[in-house]
Amino acid sequence: MLTRAGRYDWAVTEFVRVSGTLLPRKSFTRVCPELHAGARTGSGTPVRVQLMGSDPVCLAENAARLAELQPAGIDLNFGCPAPLVNRHRGGAALLDEPELLHRIAAAVRGAVPQAIPVTAKMRLGIADTARALDCARALAAGGVQALAVHARTRSDGYRPQVRWEWVARIREAVALPVIANGEVWNVADWRAIRSATGCDDVMLGRGAVADPFLSRRIRGERDEAVGATDWQDLQPLLADFWSQVRVKLEPRHAPGRLKQWLGLLQRNYPAAEAFYRRVREMKDVSAISAALGRSIILSVRTGLPGQARGEDSSYSTASRPPPPPPQPSPPGAAKAAAPAAPPCRGPLTASRPPAAALGHNASDRMIENTP
Ligand SMILES: Cc1cc2nc3c(=O)[nH]c(=O)nc-3n(C[C@H](O)[C@H](O)[C@H](O)COP(=O)(O)O)c2cc1C
Repeated sequence: MLTRAGRYDWAVTEFVRVSGTLLPRKSFTRVCPELHAGARTGSGTPVRVQLMGSDPVCLAENAARLAELQPAGIDLNFGCPAPLVNRHRGGAALLDEPELLHRIAAAVRGAVPQAIPVTAKMRLGIADTARALDCARALAAGGVQALAVHARTRSDGYRPQVRWEWVARIREAVALPVIANGEVWNVADWRAIRSATGCDDVMLGRGAVADPFLSRRIRGERDEAVGATDWQDLQPLLADFWSQVRVKLEPRHAPGRLKQWLGLLQRNYPAAEAFYRRVREMKDVSAISAALGRSIILSVRTGLPGQARGEDSSYSTASRPPPPPPQPSPPGAAKAAAPAAPPCRGPLTASRPPAAALGHNASDRMIENTP
C-alpha cells in the first residue's frame, strides 16, 4: 500500500526468524505475499525478504529454499534490538561477533543464485560503536552486495539522537553501496542524512508511514511540505488499509492497527490527529467504519474531516513526538519455528563466489523497510 502512494526502488519485508529448522514455504509467503506475484507489490515495487538468525548453515539452507520462490533479494537482519529476539541470538545481538557475521553472509551468498541480491542491515553495535567497522567489513567480505546501516547502537534503542557520522565512516570503510537509515521524517532530513553520510541511498522506515508521500516529495514529484490536499489524497489509502486489516485481523485487533497508523500520521497531518481523537475510544469495528466513512466524505468535500461541522477545529498543528515504537514482532516470524518443520541438515556443499556489488548509479535511490 505504501509503495502505491510513494515510489521506491525496492522494499524489504519484516524479518522471518530462522532458528534450527528448515521453514516451509508458507513461512516466507506469509511475510511476503508478493512472492505469489513476481515479488512485486501491486504497484510494481520489488520486494526483498529479510531473514534473521545466527546459524550460518541453517540460514543458508533457508535462504536456498526462499530463493526457489524468486524474491527480489534476500536481506539479513543484524539490527533488531528487541530483547526477546536478542536473547535468542538474533538481530543486533550478533554485532560483537564480526567473524560470525562474515560466516553468515558467506554461507547465504553461497547458497543463493547470483541473480538474487543478498544484502544486510545492521546497527552500529550493541552498547557502543567499537566494532561497527569490523562488522561492516565482515559483511562486505562475506559477499553482501549492499549494506543498510541504522545509525544507532542496540542500546540507543529509538532515542532521538542518531549517529549519522558513523554511517559515513562505514561508507568509507567498505567498497559497496551503503544505505543510510534513521530519523528521516521529511525532505530536509533526507538532505541532511545524505550530506552527513555521503550516501546516495536512503532507507525510509517510520517516516514513510508517517507521510506516505514522503518519497515523492524527496523525488520532487510533490510539494516538499504537507499541503491541504494531501490528507484528501490519503483517504483512499486509509480506506484500503482499513478494509485490509478487517479482513486480515480479528475484529478486536483491527481498531488498534488503524489507531497505530493514525498515531504516526498525526505527526504530519493535523486532520489525522482530529480523526484519531474521534476514534480513540472506539473499539467496535462498525463504529470505526462509520466514522471513517464520514471522514472520507467530509475530507473529500472540505479537505479536512470534521471542519464542515465545525468539529475539531481547535487542534494544534504542532507536530507531536511519535509514539514509542512497539517491539517488532512480525506475525510470520513469531510462527516461523513451527514444530513440524524438519531440522536444518548440515553443512551445505554448494558454494558460489561472492557477487559483484549491485549497480549503484542513481542519486535518488530509495528503499522502504516496512516496519
Ligand atoms: C515497529 C517496527 C518494526 C520494525 N521491524 C523491522 C524489521 O523487521 N526489520 C528491520 O530491518 N528493521 C525493522 N525496523 C527498523 C526500521 O527498519 C528502521 O531501521 C528504524 O525504524 C529506523 O529508521 P526510521 O527512523 O526511518 O524509522 C522496525 C522498526 C519499527 C518501528
